[in-house]
Amino acid sequence: MRKFNHVIVKRPCKAMTEGITSGLYPGIPDFNLALKQHDAYIEALKQCGVDVTILPADENYPDPCFVEDPAVLTEKCAIITNPGAASRNGEKVSIEEAVRKFYPEDRIEHIISPGTLEGGDVMMCGNHFFVGRSARTNAEGIRQFTAILAKYGYTCSEVRLEEVLHLKTGVNYLENNNMLVSGEFINKPEFETYNKYVIPEEEAYAANCIWVNDTVIVPEGYPAVLEAVKAMGYKTITVDTSEFRKLDGGLSCLSLRF
Ligand code: GLY
Repeated sequence: MRKFNHVIVKRPCKAMTEGITSGLYPGIPDFNLALKQHDAYIEALKQCGVDVTILPADENYPDPCFVEDPAVLTEKCAIITNPGAASRNGEKVSIEEAVRKFYPEDRIEHIISPGTLEGGDVMMCGNHFFVGRSARTNAEGIRQFTAILAKYGYTCSEVRLEEVLHLKTGVNYLENNNMLVSGEFINKPEFETYNKYVIPEEEAYAANCIWVNDTVIVPEGYPAVLEAVKAMGYKTITVDTSEFRKLDGGLSCLSLRF
């Protein structure tokens, strides 16, 4: 069974009030409340048996607490991405510094322009990776990503996105062949072999749960999804992410788990 030993998070910065948002969940994030929610998120992760590296806030960008996007970390290699959002592209520099503590030089790979890719578009299912072709991740980014993964014995396939920001905005793998699917992903043929739980439309945000060592962390305020995850047999922890949701961010966006 998969086991995560390490997690990297980055503290929210004051500039998060200027973060990118679709406006789907309206409001300006309350920075102090976001810090408290981030504290609780870190505690939840620690309960899942991982060591948590907490990077300091970076005020040079508004969205760097969504640390999942500038890197993809696997058992065999780290891939520093090339975020497609212009205001986020520079986040890759400091995340690479953090990643170097965990991976030797020859296991650190890069997506380079004109390829773009964001980690929120990458969903790892065993040795296979689904990657969303989105407004942030382009065909060349996916081509490079697929070639890098192949060097390490992993496979990869593309999923076209029509509606949501990132692949994992709407679909998440909970191991044991279990998958949460919402909206445009409910009937995608790519996911037909999984045990799918179809997220009710009114709880769409909660498609973004994270599996960490057989505990599933679920966003607070989504009772149907919480019950469904419990019924699958997982231990659950709920964490309030209301201030990150205003920036279209969810539980997976806030950490790198490896
Ligand atoms: N606000 C996070 C993002 O759009 O990437």
